[in-house]
Amino acid sequence: MKTKKKINVAIDGTSSSGKSTMAKALASYAGYTYIDTGAMYRAVTLFCLQNGLIADGKVDVEELEKRMGEISISFKINKNGGQSTCLNGVDVEKEIRGLEVSNNVSLVAAIAFVRHEMVRQQQAMAKKKGVVMDGRDIGTTVLPDAEIKVFVTSSALVRAQRRYAEMLAKGDTSVTLDDIVKNVEMRDHLDSTRKESPLRQAPDAILLDSTPLTIEGQRQWLFDLFDNYLKTH
Ligand code: DC
Repeated sequence: MKTKKKINVAIDGTSSSGKSTMAKALASYAGYTYIDTGAMYRAVTLFCLQNGLIADGKVDVEELEKRMGEISISFKINKNGGQSTCLNGVDVEKEIRGLEVSNNVSLVAAIAFVRHEMVRQQQAMAKKKGVVMDGRDIGTTVLPDAEIKVFVTSSALVRAQRRYAEMLAKGDTSVTLDDIVKNVEMRDHLDSTRKESPLRQAPDAILLDSTPLTIEGQRQWLFDLFDNYLKTH
């Protein structure tokens, strides 16, 4: 359903809870722009890895702060019609989804100046409305005035199984389900206990536990919420 009245939709939640799939589907349903903020933190992490700024589980914060100005993140439509993340103009979509970036991204996302810069860019992208943005702090920090806020979660095992199936479908057999369960649990812990913008549900966000739902069910739930909002406002 396309409509002239544009709103912003904030979708937060734990990793691999299906929030990106829902957010992307809603953006295409509504004719809105989809912004994957996790991809932005992943791109900064890839920059750190490419430039030797992460060693022994530690980020060289001083050096990264000096070099933040060298990092430019953008999105483009790729040849399959999907969205690719670009780091300094280079399509890095595949690299940012790999385990090396996944294992280090929580460290980078916990750094205050990195978050401030990402939040600034995300707010600029959403200024004209018509944006579906997914992340961890969208409803609380990035878009506190978003008209619709959703917080999605589901069990760690279900989330790991989804990620495992996605990686197998892409032909990536380098990790086991057990590795992914550990990665999901570690990221949940780091994301919800960090000092800067910890993962938490905004008081006015609607909670969706997606454990018993199919991806299709999750999508439909969000479309109904969106349609209902526009009908009643
Ligand atoms: O959604 P994702 O798994 O691609 O996110 C990657 C990491 O970035 C994850 O550890 C949480 C962090 N993140 C964040 O801190 N704030 C956001 N708005 C989005 C992601």
